[in-house]
Amino acid sequence: MKFFIDTANLNDIKEAYDLGVLDGVTTNPSLMAKEGISGEDKVRAHYKAICDIVDDNVSAEVIATDFEGMIKEGKELAKIDDKIVVKIPMIKDGIKAIKYFSNEGIRTNCTLIFSAGQALLAAKAGATYVSPFIGRLDDISYDGLELIDQIVNIYENYGYATQVLAASVRHTMHLIKCAELGADVVTCPLKVILGLLNHPLTDSGLATFLADHAKAAGK
Ligand code: E4P
Repeated sequence: MKFFIDTANLNDIKEAYDLGVLDGVTTNPSLMAKEGISGEDKVRAHYKAICDIVDDNVSAEVIATDFEGMIKEGKELAKIDDKIVVKIPMIKDGIKAIKYFSNEGIRTNCTLIFSAGQALLAAKAGATYVSPFIGRLDDISYDGLELIDQIVNIYENYGYATQVLAASVRHTMHLIKCAELGADVVTCPLKVILGLLNHPLTDSGLATFLADHAKAAGK
């Protein structure tokens, strides 16, 4: 399973990368705005800075919502670095753009997926990744994990190469359940990745080991 970090914060990206388990980064316009990044040049420079930290898979989202605009913007984003994956919203022109980029050999991440039908369309268009937002579905009392299960099954039925990138992951149980269900990737904040480290028995076990060692050494 690949781990992506869902942030535009360079310190968090570095910290996750230094842990040695990071496979990529997802951003979106809201995450870029949260870091105070705006204006074409600054946005591009920020994507480049992210690409310089990680090995691959940096999702950069288009702002345009019409086919021509998405193609123009996507091509420019893809030129920033080979690590860029062009992130495209699940709308009609987005599907056409994904098909176009798939034919051009440019990787895409189809974002804002909330149904199995949307995921099926994106796979048929040749998306590299689809991003079902599980936390946002949970927020409106739909089962986000059920959607992951559905998409994984559908892709398996037909052998689609599109990878299921579980997004809007809010806590460690989301991540673990996604792993059980066979999602190819999860993207989540740093705190969710670090949350996997925690167990009270690890803490108390380590404290006992260190205390016993100190006692035996006469300290
Ligand atoms: C995915 O690519 C999105 O950036 C993200 O996971 C959205 O998560 P949120 O619902 O926590 O904003």
